[in-house]
Amino acid sequence: MLVNLSGKSALVTGSTQGIGAAIAAGLAGAGARVAVNGRSADSVAAAIERLREQCPEAEFVAAPGDIATEDGARQVRDALPHADILVNNLGIFGAQPALEISDDDWRRYFEVNVLAAIRMTRAYLPGMKENGWGRVQYIASDSAVVIPAEMIHYGVSKTALLAVARGFAKDAAGTGVTVNSVIAGPTHTGGVEDFVYELVDKDLPWDEAQREFMRTHRPQSLLQRLIEPEEIAHMVVYLASSFASATTGGALRVDGGYVDSILP
Ligand SMILES: NC(=O)c1ccc[n+]([C@@H]2O[C@H](COP(=O)([O-])OP(=O)(O)OC[C@H]3O[C@@H](n4cnc5c(N)ncnc54)[C@H](OP(=O)(O)O)[C@@H]3O)[C@@H](O)[C@H]2O)c1
Repeated sequence: MLVNLSGKSALVTGSTQGIGAAIAAGLAGAGARVAVNGRSADSVAAAIERLREQCPEAEFVAAPGDIATEDGARQVRDALPHADILVNNLGIFGAQPALEISDDDWRRYFEVNVLAAIRMTRAYLPGMKENGWGRVQYIASDSAVVIPAEMIHYGVSKTALLAVARGFAKDAAGTGVTVNSVIAGPTHTGGVEDFVYELVDKDLPWDEAQREFMRTHRPQSLLQRLIEPEEIAHMVVYLASSFASATTGGALRVDGGYVDSILP
């Protein structure tokens, strides 16, 4: 199965690092023209420089803007007026005791993790429907299904994204546009290594350290290692391709078997 996305334009929100950057590289590697998004022009320019080293043939568009605001979303839309593929990857997370999450924190998680994705969907889905082809994806999390006690605001925002994906898939029914969410599991992104070494023996090499971390602190994982960002990107690239034309309204898991369920 050789995915060819040449001629397609893609926007990946929150793509200056981590899973978003891996998705940007994956889509670009398959031939798409990829718009890179982050809050500042500098972080986006630096990310594009790194991506160009990985994919020298690819075309990247700088699309800076804080999409948790209407102005920022407009700025991104100006940089990329049409997208065939929209990957709503932006998401923030952090631990906080349930009873200490303030109204403002709840609002912030809704605005950044949910509303920003809805806003970008409203911006690009009509054009995709008009063209009769498009792909919208939302990067959710195992926390959408297994609500973590230490970050219920994050979990709730990710559960909401599953519903948002299902809802917009209905809106796009019969148009040639597919809409899905991807349930990502614990992934090896910036900061995670430090977090792992806070909990296991600092002298262990990374491979053993992460296995020890997973065995002790994430025993539900069937993979028993962290997921690499590229492994999430592979699912996103497949879903963005024509090969996935019959998959819509779904929640697809790349969680290393973390969620103990047969269905999502
Ligand atoms: N990491 C995991 O283990 C894991 C597991 C399951 C699901 N996920 C989900 O996967 C997604 C990516 O996670 P990650 O760990 O790769 O994230 P990350 O490393 O924290 O990266 C976040 C990205 O979002 C950008 N960003 C932050 N606020 C923004 C805003 N308001 N507007 C535009 N861009 C903004 C940042 O760029 P700038 O700093 O340049 O603005 C950065 O590129 C999230 O939705 C997360 O919930 C992650």
